[in-house]
Amino acid sequence: MGVKRAYLVEGGYRLRGEITISGAKNAALPIMASSLLVEGPVVLENVPRVKDVETLIELLQILGAKVTWSEGGSLVIDASELKDSTAPHELVRTMRASILVLGPLLARTGEAKVSLPGGCAIGARPIDLHLKGLEMMGAEIKVERGYIQAKARKLKGARIYLDLPTVTGTENLLMAAALAEGETVIENAAREPEVVDLAKALKEMGVEVEGEGTGIIKVRGTKSPKSFSHRVIPDRIEAGTFMVAAAITNGNVTLKGARADHLEAVVGKLREAGIEVDQQGDSLRVSSWDRPRAVDVRTAPYPGFPTDMQAQFMALMSIARGLCVITETIFENRFLHVNELRRMGADIRLQGQSAVVQGVPYLTGAPVMATDLRAGASLVIAGLVAEGETLVGGVQHLERGYERFLEKLSALGARVKEVEHEVPEDG
Ligand code: UD1
Repeated sequence: MGVKRAYLVEGGYRLRGEITISGAKNAALPIMASSLLVEGPVVLENVPRVKDVETLIELLQILGAKVTWSEGGSLVIDASELKDSTAPHELVRTMRASILVLGPLLARTGEAKVSLPGGCAIGARPIDLHLKGLEMMGAEIKVERGYIQAKARKLKGARIYLDLPTVTGTENLLMAAALAEGETVIENAAREPEVVDLAKALKEMGVEVEGEGTGIIKVRGTKSPKSFSHRVIPDRIEAGTFMVAAAITNGNVTLKGARADHLEAVVGKLREAGIEVDQQGDSLRVSSWDRPRAVDVRTAPYPGFPTDMQAQFMALMSIARGLCVITETIFENRFLHVNELRRMGADIRLQGQSAVVQGVPYLTGAPVMATDLRAGASLVIAGLVAEGETLVGGVQHLERGYERFLEKLSALGARVKEVEHEVPEDG
């Protein structure tokens, strides 16, 4: 037997009070990678201290950047001198978003070698569109011995149509375009707020960017990117996760810093389900008194309902009045939480890319396993309302993306703690 960490959740407590939303992991990661473009220090505020951020710090250090946390909590990255251009397998396998160094590294040094990310729990997740775009900008790319090897003497602006509006693909191409000669136009670009935040950082660096937040982004590269400082936007998925946690416990919670304009689809669905959401200055207040109504959800690229909120919303719908259909259109295998929710008494049937959820009056605590970041959040949320104790294993997935998750839940009155539990050696 070996010992692993798990979260123990005691259900039945209403969440009340106020917490502050952290900086967005998925905005911090590309902006941190963009510091590779600059010969000088970059100062980033509001970077969440989560495992994925630590992993990218480690990768930037391997590449030769100096990275420090300032006393005030800002992250300072100085990539003046780079000494390597290889992102090794050991790191890329722990975080797919490591692929974000490909574009900036290639643009800055003329070469980059990045381990090819494999599939992951939620799907195959190819990166062909990243590579196709870079090739259109003049890069020569080979995949050899599990590594993407990219070379370009000088990247040139190009007109790139993305078959799908890939988020990190758009970000990689924006960063490559930042140092390319001439104009790059990305069509069918991702419109996520995190892409807009990266574009803002690139502008602060002196790059001309137009159209971010729409499907067509134009970039005119610069020869001499400047040092800059930037404050990362609040994490809309963390905010959405706490909104659902408040709703499922019939709570009354204020989320400081949550941006309603980044959460329209989620807020719309919560309201449809009968949950009250009000904007109060720079905060969102979520309250509910009764079981939610069942509402159908279909994930879609921004501004559609985020795939990163699908699992959490399903936990909420599992105790709704009525039946709903939740359809996942972004990733082909993002229903790994379904079997675990079922173990807690949820009535969910899978039909291809849809989950048919028949709401039940209550859930019961059980030992369950988190298989990815958001699935983990969904199980903790279900545990908050379940009768008895829920033991959520696989907490390392949760720690990749939620800053001080247990602390914030406890501050709202949840009974959650970290425990060690015994598992079979091969389990
Ligand atoms: C980003 C987010 C992740 C979120 C996802 C979708 C980060 C670090 N991660 O991931 O949290 O769940 O957006 O909102 O920001 N695809 C291809 N070819 C490619 C690239 C993507 O076919 O070259 C497909 C994927 O398999 C998937 C879809 O496009 O079906 C969207 O994926 P993408 O937007 O690229 O997700 P990520 O950027 O990896």
